[in-house]
Amino acid sequence: MTAPADPRVAQLDEHRDDDGQARFEELIAQDSRVEPRDWMPEAYRKTLIRQISQHAHSEIIGMQPESNWISRAPSLKRKAILMAKVQDEAGHGLYLYSAAQTLGIGRDEMMQQLIEGKAKYSSIFNYTTPTWADMGAIGWLVDGAAICNQVPLCRASYGPYGRAMVRICKEESFHQRQGFEILLELMQGTDDQKRMAQDAVDRWYWPSLMMFGPPDDESPNSAQSMAWNIKRFSNDDLRQRFVGMLVPQAEVLGVTLPDPNLAWNEERQAYDISEIDWTEFHEVLAGRGPANAERLRRRREAHEEGAWVREAAAEYARKQAANAAAA
Ligand SMILES: [Fe+2]
Ligand SMILES: [Fe+2]
Repeated sequence: MTAPADPRVAQLDEHRDDDGQARFEELIAQDSRVEPRDWMPEAYRKTLIRQISQHAHSEIIGMQPESNWISRAPSLKRKAILMAKVQDEAGHGLYLYSAAQTLGIGRDEMMQQLIEGKAKYSSIFNYTTPTWADMGAIGWLVDGAAICNQVPLCRASYGPYGRAMVRICKEESFHQRQGFEILLELMQGTDDQKRMAQDAVDRWYWPSLMMFGPPDDESPNSAQSMAWNIKRFSNDDLRQRFVGMLVPQAEVLGVTLPDPNLAWNEERQAYDISEIDWTEFHEVLAGRGPANAERLRRRREAHEEGAWVREAAAEYARKQAANAAAA
């Protein structure tokens, strides 16, 4: 008696292309770009769809904790800067959704996965922003961590993703600077302002270190992503690089990084840090963070409120097509 055919095997066979596979492996070996027209293994395509769509979702969900402060920014200048920054994040979402679409998934499908709570996005955006200093800490720490993560992605093997990241990284540098400058100004202010800045750094520091993902020995997909030249450095390497970048900047600011065990290790030529509390990370990831429900509720609302724009755009496109056909 033969075993029933596994539908997944049939699916793999359907996509099998020995010439394509050889060309793909050659591109990867040469560290060249894979473009949408090129044949690619299903697993590579799926990995990219997952990564790029999660990244896109993170950009647009990430608008929420900061847009919360646009109406309350302490000056016209700060309001203008913050508004520009939040708009940049919307743009990042658009570049990335477009990059994911070149892999054969529709924007509607990705959005549906997000608003139904089936898609992941970066856990960092499930934390709340109770004070103005949070705008500083987010820019400095969250956008700073994003830069560390994303600069190597500019060389990702998938062309549309790498090219989107080049532009995104330029804008992230501005985000990081504006956050740093908010904290710098607060740290030169009154005692209350200094306390507010330190409090925000205390709350965002550990979550920002968690943005690099679980430790290397618990990150099952990393090796494959590195073999495909999507990922260039391991989670722990990037985390180390980030801490190394923060320490001198914290000195300039005059803030304390909330880790009593933070110390330079001469032998490793890197900073030793305390053990990270991964239970917190997993709790937030599982949807039990401070603002998970609120973020999804707001996203769903925004989607519903935007229905008329999508309908109008579709109707416009229909009329344009009808006019073109008539002409
Ligand atoms: Fe961004
Ligand atoms: Fe940003």
